[in-house]
Amino acid sequence: MSLPGNFLWGGAISATQVEGAYNQGGKGLSNLDYALRGKKGEKRQFATEIKDAQYFPSHEAIDFYHHYQEDIKLFAEMGFKLFRFSIQWSRIFPNGDEKEPNEEGLVFYENILTELEKYGIEPLVTISHFDIPDYLVKTYGSWKSRKVVDCYLRFCETLFRRFKGRVKYWIPFNEINVITYMPYFSTGIQTDNLSDIFQMAHHQLVASAKAVKLGRDISADFEFATMLMYGPTYPHNCHPDNVLQAMKYDEEMYYFGDVQVRGAYSPYSKQFLKQLNVEIEIEEEDTNVLSEGTVDIVSLSYYMSWTTAEAESEGNMSTGGENPYLEKSEWGWQVDPVGLRISLNRLFSRYEKPLMIVENGLGAIDEIGKDGIIQDDYRIDYLASHLKQVKLAIVEDAVPVIGFTVWSAIDSISASTGEMSKRYGLVYVDLDDEGNGSLKRMPKKSFYWYKEIIETNGENL
Ligand code: BG6
Repeated sequence: MSLPGNFLWGGAISATQVEGAYNQGGKGLSNLDYALRGKKGEKRQFATEIKDAQYFPSHEAIDFYHHYQEDIKLFAEMGFKLFRFSIQWSRIFPNGDEKEPNEEGLVFYENILTELEKYGIEPLVTISHFDIPDYLVKTYGSWKSRKVVDCYLRFCETLFRRFKGRVKYWIPFNEINVITYMPYFSTGIQTDNLSDIFQMAHHQLVASAKAVKLGRDISADFEFATMLMYGPTYPHNCHPDNVLQAMKYDEEMYYFGDVQVRGAYSPYSKQFLKQLNVEIEIEEEDTNVLSEGTVDIVSLSYYMSWTTAEAESEGNMSTGGENPYLEKSEWGWQVDPVGLRISLNRLFSRYEKPLMIVENGLGAIDEIGKDGIIQDDYRIDYLASHLKQVKLAIVEDAVPVIGFTVWSAIDSISASTGEMSKRYGLVYVDLDDEGNGSLKRMPKKSFYWYKEIIETNGENL
């Protein structure tokens, strides 16, 4: 039972969760620069202006902006073959609608690529990981406007031309489906107006397809991936009504994937919008654009599964649809390794494309032991059990999974809560929830465990 020799082992981060330096290097403001720190069980809040008295975790974050060399060296020590990071749009186009990019921003990411090349690590670039220049939000109403599609394409074109020959794998949007329940993250707009949400989603899908087409004209080597937040929903018992409900939730999960991978909204999706009384404006050219700009790879983040049982939601705690057979993380996320194997099988059956797991990991409170070591055996157990299922999916089910990037390569600010104490990293960063700490990096026990997994290509999983 062996994994393919060229399996892409690695780790992931996202710009707004690690970079800091929010007003350095000519960067403009991002939507996430307004995100305040939340707490376990409380929804994350977003300020309307930036005041000194308030703490905004992304402003300094773990200061990857100044520590990237040291951090990438650690990733190389673990043996990463692939490193997923995102490019903050407002570093390249501070307002978003300029004609010319900000050179200093481009040089920062170029330096990251140089560092990765030094160690032979392949980059996987997320073009938009939950961020948009604040100016585009305030001036054009964010993704509600077609103008933003054009701005996004200029951003993409700048990256494609500059990084051609150095970057092969691109993800146009992180967790593109998350817009439907956490719209602020990729749009900077807090709303529960479904027409607005699905219109913005349509514009992102059009932008993604146009980016893929443009990218292919620029370089035949580029490969593009959809990135879905994915997990199965199980019927909570075998009553046919629950099975039907589970099937429906699952169909809804494919809304975005169908467009990005197959090139069109499915009949189910069209009917779904009708039932929600949502009408979206689709321009004449869109149908062709969507069908021509399909992706090569299906990538996903996987953290948990759900059931059709009545969901209880407490702020950012994911307590929805409890499953009595599963344990939960400290943040209420149900731990379901087999669910990952199910997800991989389902996505492959539907799309028949190579798959990449670009996020999977455990958010937990870590403590430094008396011996100065972070003994995060719980994270090792989590990752080992999930990776075992990945291996089974590849070896027994013949699902072509080509890579795995653990979330996260290094501790970062939690997206949903803004906490530092919800740690995912294999490298610890000395920083607390209030922004105090030396920023010192320390490999955790899981760092050494993952290094061995990579060295042996998962032989002992
Ligand atoms: C995914 C996001 O939703 O999950 C990441 O792409 C995020 O940005 C990760 O950090 C874990 O979620 P959280 O809210 O615990 O940080």
